Amino acid sequence: MGRSADAPTVVLGVTGCIAAYKACELVRDLQRRDLRVKVVMTEAATRFVAPLTFRTLTGEPVAVSLWDDEPAARVHHISLAEEADVLCVAPCTANVIAKIAHGRADDMLTTTVLATEAPIVIAPAMNVHMWRDEATRSNVELLRSRGFIIVEPGIGELACGEVGEGRLAEVATIGEVVEREARCTQDLAGLRILVTAGPTYEPIDPVRFIGNRSSGKTGFAIAERAARRGAVVTLVTGPVSLPDPFGVTVVRVTTALEMRDAVLARLAQTDVVIAAAAVADFRPANFAGEKIKKDDAPRSIELERNPDILAEVGALNDGRMVLVGFAAETGDLLEHAHKKLRDKHLDLVVANDVSDGSAFGGSENRVVFVTHHGTEEMPTLPKWRIAEEILDRVRDAVQDRP
Ligand code: CTP
Repeated sequence: MGRSADAPTVVLGVTGCIAAYKACELVRDLQRRDLRVKVVMTEAATRFVAPLTFRTLTGEPVAVSLWDDEPAARVHHISLAEEADVLCVAPCTANVIAKIAHGRADDMLTTTVLATEAPIVIAPAMNVHMWRDEATRSNVELLRSRGFIIVEPGIGELACGEVGEGRLAEVATIGEVVEREARCTQDLAGLRILVTAGPTYEPIDPVRFIGNRSSGKTGFAIAERAARRGAVVTLVTGPVSLPDPFGVTVVRVTTALEMRDAVLARLAQTDVVIAAAAVADFRPANFAGEKIKKDDAPRSIELERNPDILAEVGALNDGRMVLVGFAAETGDLLEHAHKKLRDKHLDLVVANDVSDGSAFGGSENRVVFVTHHGTEEMPTLPKWRIAEEILDRVRDAVQDRP
């Protein structure tokens, strides 16, 4: 298969599980994306697929043992580690996840993983009980917190006959993530980006609140991708059940007033504000210090307006900052989005139709970009792809600043 001379290199690690045969498909998928692939296998993986298969598919030597003859003069696991623009382990067993999490380096693959400075993508595959086991859960979270990119396994029929979570993610999904990392540039280097995310909770009494269904996924995805692209990122988020994105300063708040204070306090050190939070527009006028008993409960709760954080930022902006807002609408999407663009002095509005509730909690969305220059309808995309598209437009808007 012809590849451009400057094609990025993917070192693909294959471990010993039945899904190893899917790694052959993955090699093809990556090559179709104009990536050069070199394979490293564990001994166990060679029980499932012969090294010759990968050698033939890639046209490159396949590394298995630390003690093989060196194909080049350099120490092989170090040269592979340095050559990799991305290292991907797919499929990755529970055992290899555990070894990597604890810094073990007792074979060619784990030594290469420890030695590389390239981004590492892990696509786990295992039995559902092994995947859900606490040891695996904490190993995976440890890796995530160190910046490893985990391509979550899917739900389906497993080799053991059970049905559940643990099945290797789709080859195309892994390929897409690997390509993204292989081609990731530092095009936002030095840009200071503040992202708001999640809902806000407005307390009624110590146990009850007014909130909304925002999962925070879009804001977290924007923060994560911006940091990978070199930006200095602060994420101010309401209550969500998502782990801190790698390389991002996370400020966790509860109410709209707390979010406002956290944002305004950081504006002097901010070049771009991306407001993805679903801020509650109202809060209860009175907070009951004690839990309200149902016999004493009022029939209605008096509300007062929360400040519009983004509108305040827009009013304070002297043209230095690039501002991005979201518009979740059920009515005339474009009309409302244009109104927000003007009223809040924004550079970009990311508008989406929430009339069917599908935008909440899912990992995909369909948005329209609205700027002063026009509108652009996007197809349904994963939230991380939407994040990349938003950041591309932010980068261009920053460059267009006088
Ligand atoms: N926003 C904010 N502070 C608020 C309310 C909204 O910063 N108190 C931001 C949101 O993060 C989002 C945009 O403003 O970027 C949404 O604008 P908003 O006018 O609240 O629109 P909707 O909530 O979609 O709906 P409505 O027009 O009904 O208010």
